[in-house]
Amino acid sequence: MTDEKATLSVGDKSIELPMYSGSAGPDVIDVRSLVQEGVFTYDPGFVSTAACESKITYIDGANGVLLHRGYKIEDLAENSDYLEVCYLLLNGELPTAEENQKFHQTIKNHTMLHDQMRNFFQGFRRDAHPMAIMCGVVGALSAFYHDSMDVADEHEREITAHRLVAKMPTIAAWCYKYSIGQPFMYPRNDLSYAENFLQMMFGVPCEEYKPNPVLAKAMDKIFILHADHEQNASTSTVRLAGSTGANPYACIASGIAALWGPAHGGANEAVLDMLAEIGDESNIEKYIAKAKDKDDPFRLMGFGHRVYKNFDPRAKVMAETAHEVLSELGLENDPLLKIAQRLEKIALEDEYFVQRKLYPNVDFYSGLILKAIGIPTSMFTVIFALSRTIGWFSHWNEMVSGNYRIGRPRQLYTGPTTREYPTK
Ligand code: CMC
Repeated sequence: MTDEKATLSVGDKSIELPMYSGSAGPDVIDVRSLVQEGVFTYDPGFVSTAACESKITYIDGANGVLLHRGYKIEDLAENSDYLEVCYLLLNGELPTAEENQKFHQTIKNHTMLHDQMRNFFQGFRRDAHPMAIMCGVVGALSAFYHDSMDVADEHEREITAHRLVAKMPTIAAWCYKYSIGQPFMYPRNDLSYAENFLQMMFGVPCEEYKPNPVLAKAMDKIFILHADHEQNASTSTVRLAGSTGANPYACIASGIAALWGPAHGGANEAVLDMLAEIGDESNIEKYIAKAKDKDDPFRLMGFGHRVYKNFDPRAKVMAETAHEVLSELGLENDPLLKIAQRLEKIALEDEYFVQRKLYPNVDFYSGLILKAIGIPTSMFTVIFALSRTIGWFSHWNEMVSGNYRIGRPRQLYTGPTTREYPTK
């Protein structure tokens, strides 16, 4: 608590509210007592509301800073691999060399899916969106692991974390294999996490798959850059679902559902659709005008962010990785990349975007990388979900291992008040 107090005047009443300082970021005003005063706060979209206390991730949107447990995202992307970042998010500290090796091995030991899981995949239509399949299959994991779902048991929670991190690539790749009618590929323990994902996506049982190290590194960076992002819509969904005591697999499935929307995880898919729709550099001006027209619902996908009002540090790393991947594959002159680069340049100089502090976000370049690797657009959000699972789990874990109450927002009611039921 700080020495400072906030004072709120409501009519002739003056209400004193305690304030707290975090280790970084704005102070918060504790409004919990307001309900006793007969008023609620009103904040649709949670623009000014801190819904929880957390030690995991910090974002300074004005300065383009993203820290996981205090470490800058750029440093983690440069020096760590995804599993090391998972360990950090989950446990609060970077692993020692020995802990790191053990964690990697543990994850490898959990990558296979229960064989009966195949039947779940086979229940879906072949043309089902892979997010629909992933949402269902992850929810279904709770039917397989009811031996380890005691929310209050720390050890069971740890096992669940390992299972989720290990199985998500297998589930994601199987969603794709099912949609194209190819056999499911089993995980290979001689490969790294990212290599193994590529192997399960693109390998076939009749020949040995040799992962390309540049593409595997790019894939790993995509996993790292999407691993966590503070109290975003899907993480808040997971926390809210978890606050009821729901099992972790159900909570992660709720996060996947929330991520699916085009304003959130669906944006990387939407970016590629948008670039394809623009089609040619000569059409860019027309689409910029559409984005600025308030009577047109069109928005520049991959631009803007609720929190970053300077630049998205993840977008910088993604842009560099995009160049590495495209040059490795000889696609430097890819027409969509050219449109993306030109669009970015024009938007960054345009008064409308400058004034509103709209910069490219992580999804602007991640879609181009995924497309170059050969991943279809419908799988983009699935890969985001795979990467974000550790973030969702870490937040859920933080919440259930402390004091928490069921999340139950209130409302400003504007509907009819009590009225008589008409006599018939
Ligand atoms: N294109 C055109 N105008 C925009 C855009 C855009 N992409 N984003 C925001 N604006 C305008 C908006 O119309 C508003 O203008 P005005 O003040 O004149 O009414 C102003 O900028 C503020 O926008 P907002 O909708 O109030 O901002 P928000 O914080 O509610 O929304 C956002 C943030 C990310 C949903 C939004 O910028 C957007 O829809 N972007 C495109 C979708 C996208 O790329 N999403 C991925 C986010 S990063 C990945 C993730 O974290 O999931």
